[in-house]
Amino acid sequence: MGGPSGKNLVVLSGAGLSAESGVATFRGQGGLWEGQRIEEVATPGAFHRTPERVHRFYNLRRAALRTVQPNAAHAALVRLEREWPGRFLHVTQNVDDLNERAGARQLVHMHGQLLEIRCTACDGIWSWDRDVDTRTPCPGCRRAGGLRPHIVWFGEMPMHLDRIMTALARVDLFLCVGTSGVVYPAAGFALMAAENGCRRLIEVNVEATGISGDFTERRHGPASVEVPRLVNELLEQR
Ligand code: APR
Repeated sequence: MGGPSGKNLVVLSGAGLSAESGVATFRGQGGLWEGQRIEEVATPGAFHRTPERVHRFYNLRRAALRTVQPNAAHAALVRLEREWPGRFLHVTQNVDDLNERAGARQLVHMHGQLLEIRCTACDGIWSWDRDVDTRTPCPGCRRAGGLRPHIVWFGEMPMHLDRIMTALARVDLFLCVGTSGVVYPAAGFALMAAENGCRRLIEVNVEATGISGDFTERRHGPASVEVPRLVNELLEQR
């Protein structure tokens, strides 16, 4: 089992990884985002009915990225990626760019990214760090009205599932950092890893979650403390 020199490692992260950077989680503060429920704006129906409200919601979150920095947990995961002897993949549910800014390379955003937009007219995907609305012309086809956040909304298919399934098919160590484990398919990845023979699964969270029972170990505490500590342990044990 495992890569050229031993074990394959998969990390799954959620909003708790970025919480200490100042990026609000979805279900911590009663699940409100700027006074609205994520389920009311992050859906294709909401975008069809009130595109400007949905654009405003994402413009706010995209602009907020300029005010936050990666924290010690992001840095520790990059160190793990660089020094881990086997195969490494970080699957994040987060749409911020904090992992990239910390130096992450082996990273997939299964729920998309705030800094990308997609044109529903020409299917082009563009890096984008400014506001966007229904009047913004597509950088490719120049048509206005078709641009949307390149974000996976409720009811839509997550991205990069083929690469994620391949990684979970042969994983020896599964780390989960800062997810409440209520949104699938991510919430089922620990079980999938265990069914594929993974014998060491570690959950890092400030509290127990509905999927804590899927893990062989649990580290309770803030990611910025627990992840660097865990990475030190893993790299010493390698
Ligand atoms: N350190 C570690 N864990 C933390 C911290 C912290 N400092 N702060 C909060 N947490 C934990 C919370 O206990 C919770 O379990 O992070 C988790 C955040 O859960 P959610 O807000 O539900 O975020 P997430 O699990 O990433 O949501 C999954 O749901 O809304 C959709 O698409 C969106 O990607 C998101 C998905």
